[in-house]
Amino acid sequence: MKFFVDTADVAAIAELNELGIIDGVTTNPSLILKSGRDITEVTREICAIVDGPVSAEVVALNAPEMIEEGRKLAQIAPNITIKLPLTWEGLKACKTLSGEGHMINVTLCFSANQALLAAKAGASFISPFIGRLDDINLDGMELIQDIRTIYDNYDFTTEILAASIRSVNHVTEAARIGADVMTAPPEVIHKLAQHPLTDKGLDAFMKDWEKTGQKIV
Ligand code: E4P
Repeated sequence: MKFFVDTADVAAIAELNELGIIDGVTTNPSLILKSGRDITEVTREICAIVDGPVSAEVVALNAPEMIEEGRKLAQIAPNITIKLPLTWEGLKACKTLSGEGHMINVTLCFSANQALLAAKAGASFISPFIGRLDDINLDGMELIQDIRTIYDNYDFTTEILAASIRSVNHVTEAARIGADVMTAPPEVIHKLAQHPLTDKGLDAFMKDWEKTGQKIV
């Protein structure tokens, strides 16, 4: 499973990237706002840190303007993935921009039929939002499973990018189902390494080690 980090926080991205576990980055207008940075400037910095796909989202609502914005964002760096919303206009822009050879991440996906349309329009990634479905008492994981089945039935090559991940359990479940990619905030990625029994075990080892009076170096 590929790991993308869902943030526009350059320091957090650089730290995770150093560990070699980050395969890409996703941003959105809310994350750009949170960063307090200029979209072009911060996206360029992120693209220089991470080799893999970096999603940058358009904000226009009609296809011609989405296409114009998408082309502009794609000029920032070769690893830009143009992020388009799953609307009829977004699908039109997806068809055109993917036809020009751009990587496209179709975002705000909440149904299997939307995912089917995005694949047919040439999306490189489809982003079903797990957490936001859970927020309204629907099953985000059921959606990931449905998309996996449908894409496999017809050999669609669009990668399933499990998004709106809020917990470590979301990561486990998405991986178990076979999502190709997950994108999560840095805090969730850090939590993947944590386990109370690891902390407890380490504490016991340290106490016993101290009693030996030995040193390794
Ligand atoms: C993905 O590309 C989105 O940026 C993100 O996962 C949205 O997550 P949220 O629902 O926690 O805002």
